[in-house]
Amino acid sequence: MKSSTTGAKSGSRSSQTSKAASNRSSSKSASNGSGQKENLSKIFEDTLKDIYWAEKHLVKALPRMSKAAYDENLSAAFEEHTEQTQGQIERLDQIFEQLGKRAQGKKCPAMEGLVEEGKEAIEEYEKGYARDAALIISAQKIEHYEIAAYGSLKAHARMMGEEEIANLLEATEQEEGETDKKLTEISETVNQQAYTEGEEEEA
Ligand SMILES: [Fe+2]
Ligand SMILES: [Fe+2]
Repeated sequence: MKSSTTGAKSGSRSSQTSKAASNRSSSKSASNGSGQKENLSKIFEDTLKDIYWAEKHLVKALPRMSKAAYDENLSAAFEEHTEQTQGQIERLDQIFEQLGKRAQGKKCPAMEGLVEEGKEAIEEYEKGYARDAALIISAQKIEHYEIAAYGSLKAHARMMGEEEIANLLEATEQEEGETDKKLTEISETVNQQAYTEGEEEEA
């Protein structure tokens, strides 16, 4: 059985909790339902601007990654994804148009940092399978960021009844997923080669 002190403590805690709850409900009544909806469509638009900036930044970095890759398949995969990314930017242009908004980017510090990490790998290591392994790690982080962004945007577009926009977002989400899978496949060979060559050097 709880002591009376504990009881008193929990009592005061529960009064704090109910105070917090009443604060929440008052703020809820202050911003009515339509305010929430407005916020959500602004969040949706800002997330679109973020990924628009991210894709435009990435499309400039991918040719550099393709050039830096030692493995032919990896180089080709980056080249292919450059073209895909151009198409993804066009899809986003289409989405902005359908929303009646000007296509506009908003700096995405996350993508800037992820691209920077890939750049650092290129500068730090010489061309070869080990550096390719680092490039794949960077690229897969990028793909996962994009998958998260497009998956969320798609879910929100569906919620808003924007089926056509949701389909465009889904098409890109799928391409990012396929790219991620392809990179996993390539990494199997690349990592193997990097380890084998390392062993040969040691021997
Ligand atoms: Fe993309
Ligand atoms: Fe991508």
